[in-house]
Amino acid sequence: MQEVYLIGASGHAKVIAEILSEEKKLIKGIFEKNEAIESMWDFKVNPQPDAGAWPRDGEYIIAVGSNRIRKHVAETFREELSFCKAIHPKATISNRASIGDGTVVMAGVTVNTEVSIGKHVIVNTNCSIDHECFISDYVHLSPNVAVAGDVHVGEGSHIGIGACVVQGIRIGKWCIIGAGAVIIRNVPDYAVVVGNPGRIIKYNKEVI
Ligand SMILES: CC(C)(COP(=O)(O)OP(=O)(O)OC[C@H]1O[C@@H](n2cnc3c(N)ncnc32)[C@H](O)[C@@H]1OP(=O)(O)O)[C@@H](O)C(=O)NCCC(=O)NCCS
Repeated sequence: MQEVYLIGASGHAKVIAEILSEEKKLIKGIFEKNEAIESMWDFKVNPQPDAGAWPRDGEYIIAVGSNRIRKHVAETFREELSFCKAIHPKATISNRASIGDGTVVMAGVTVNTEVSIGKHVIVNTNCSIDHECFISDYVHLSPNVAVAGDVHVGEGSHIGIGACVVQGIRIGKWCIIGAGAVIIRNVPDYAVVVGNPGRIIKYNKEVI
């Protein structure tokens, strides 16, 4: 049985824990930076180890919703940790799609032919990703996001719940697309876009 450690003990981590259970994988342990969180269900939650002190007898998933924090943790402990995926058995994934390590795919997702999904991506509940899309590392596609064919999403971008993106669009890195937005034009790096049709309201300064 594959043994997995979770980094993070939030609601998002609970969703991933249930996926691992559906996949018949064993949760070997949970680590959390916030030491006030001591348990998750019946699991004891342990403080996050310092560099060099992580257990080596399992693979890891960074179960943290923040794209920026997932990147920070993945890069900080890159040499030390080996990452795996969690893919819900009720996700439909083309044999011609590729999915990177550390990525999680929730229930009801459809990933169509020749889609490439990077590392440490969140593909949240009921997303639809159509043919030949390229989803970069540390992206989060929120629940019910619909991405048409040949769309590229840059590193770390967050697409809000229920947003849709028409075919052929290029979304830059570290963008935020608001809940329910309709994206019909390319989006530059760091842009925060809302509405139908999507319009830029500001830039994501947190990561610039
Ligand atoms: C886009 C978003 C990040 C903006 O948040 P913010 O930086 O706090 O911005 P504000 O709430 O101050 O809103 C700024 C303006 O944009 C508008 N706006 C914000 N979000 C909007 C949205 N999703 N659709 C349409 N307009 C929106 C606000 O009404 C406000 O307009 P005003 O200046 O005319 O009053 C946020 O509203 C959002 O949609 N986040 C997505 C959350 C999500 O999907 N989470 C899923 C987790 S799984």
